[in-house]
Amino acid sequence: MSHAVTVMGFQEVQHLVLSISVIRLFDQKGSDLTEKLWRHSFAVGVGSRMLAAHLKLKVESKYFVAGLLHDIGKIFLAQYLPDKFKEMHAILERSDNKTTYHALEEGFFGISHAEIGRKLLEFWCFPDDIKDAVAWHHEPSRALSCQALASCVSITDLICAIKGISPLGDRHFLTIDKNVLPLLSKLKKDFDTEDLFYLTRQLDLEIDRLSGFVSIYR
Ligand SMILES: [Fe+2]
Ligand SMILES: [Fe+2]
Repeated sequence: MSHAVTVMGFQEVQHLVLSISVIRLFDQKGSDLTEKLWRHSFAVGVGSRMLAAHLKLKVESKYFVAGLLHDIGKIFLAQYLPDKFKEMHAILERSDNKTTYHALEEGFFGISHAEIGRKLLEFWCFPDDIKDAVAWHHEPSRALSCQALASCVSITDLICAIKGISPLGDRHFLTIDKNVLPLLSKLKKDFDTEDLFYLTRQLDLEIDRLSGFVSIYR
């Protein structure tokens, strides 16, 4: 471990250890829905890290961890309240459904998956910036600790939803917090749709490159 700290740096190792500890608490090969959730989470982790590198932001591992765990509240619901969670998804899949994902979640569980995620990460003593990014991944401009982190996760979540790398629920979040693009433009001058196209193209390649190491993609 001390060798890893020397090579990677303390924060990188801390992030790695925290992520592995959380992942081991959950089944990655449960129901079809759970598997889709993990695949989506991995893709958002990879994409957030790529976006951070593209923007030249420091401690890229933090971006991977926040992306990987952004929907941990959903994974928690899928694993610990599976019948209710499946019932909610069955309603979402109905062609006559008019209720948004968020409203259904509130009705079924009385709390959002983002808030469940925040509470779980608080319980596991994650740093404030990662906790905040998970809590506000659908409204990144409300993050107090690090809006860049929340924004990278949010944009990547949206890209994954558009690309179809997401469980059904995320298709109901195809909106963008209007403050995100101006915020990213502060981090990289003239950040625009070209940057988003670049990220979208690179994401498949990066997932392919890394998926050999990750059991959920095998
Ligand atoms: Fe989400
Ligand atoms: Fe998501």
